[in-house]
Amino acid sequence: MPLLEVKNVSFSYVKNKQTLKDVSFSVEKGEFLAIIGHNGSGKSTLAKLLNGLLKPNSGEIIVDGYSSSDKNAVFEIRKRVGMVFQNPDNQLIASIVEDDIAFGPENLGLPREEIGKRIDFALKAVGMQDFRKATPERLSGGQKQRIAIAGVLALMPQVLVLDESTAMLDPEGRKEIAEVVDNLREKGVAVIAITHYMEEAVKADKILVLDRGEIALSGTPKEVFAKKSELDALNLELPLAGIIADKLRARGLNIADDVVSDAELAGALWKLL
Ligand SMILES: Nc1ncnc2c1ncn2[C@@H]1O[C@H](COP(=O)(O)OP(=O)(O)OP(=O)(O)O)[C@@H](O)[C@H]1O
Ligand SMILES: [Mg+2]
Repeated sequence: MPLLEVKNVSFSYVKNKQTLKDVSFSVEKGEFLAIIGHNGSGKSTLAKLLNGLLKPNSGEIIVDGYSSSDKNAVFEIRKRVGMVFQNPDNQLIASIVEDDIAFGPENLGLPREEIGKRIDFALKAVGMQDFRKATPERLSGGQKQRIAIAGVLALMPQVLVLDESTAMLDPEGRKEIAEVVDNLREKGVAVIAITHYMEEAVKADKILVLDRGEIALSGTPKEVFAKKSELDALNLELPLAGIIADKLRARGLNIADDVVSDAELAGALWKLL
């Protein structure tokens, strides 16, 4: 059984206008799913459905055996699916990093000692052990966002949903978050990242492309980025390495059709040398 299963989910905010239409997919333990798609395609709505902030009009979301159809399960689902949003400044509340991370576990009523352990765990998971007593305001964007992630990790979720959590970060900050994602997957935490950056999506195990509330494309990054005309029609780009590969190919260089990641491009160029 997958860790998270979305089964034929539809959702509307208002009558006669479906925001999500018959969406189905699943995520395994430690898996990394990227969700891409245009503004207004329903990505954030889907994120809110995943952790029980919204409820499907039809269909069902099952997390670790708990179904969104079961009223009593919402709390269990929320505990298992953590969410991090775009702006870290809106997510940090305390004036000292450790207090910020303690906030969630304190609300769960956990004992002091356990809270301390969770702060250690969460800071280590995001590589911010040395910033326990720091003031969030003084940190860089990437560091702030890592603290926001740590705050969610302190609740020990099984799925972490990042809703454009790198959108406000510089390339260095985005790299920091990518490292956190790698580390979490090794720990068995599933990551669902909504992103406008194809460089992030290409690192995922699977990609879901939403278009006007429907899944337009899905598959491995290789499968999805191979559908160039479909992506074009959706006004979505290839990752930078794919764009460069296309340009070099157009100039007559012998580069395989399916090069989409940095590593593949480097490999293809190496071969040509
Ligand atoms: N609270 C709401 N009430 C009514 N309509 C909403 C609400 N929130 C979002 N919508 C509409 O639902 C649709 C999907 O919005 P959503 O925020 O899920 O898209 P998105 O893919 O996350 O977009 P973006 O890339 O801009 O973040 C849009 O048409 C939006 O206007
Ligand atoms: Mg959104």
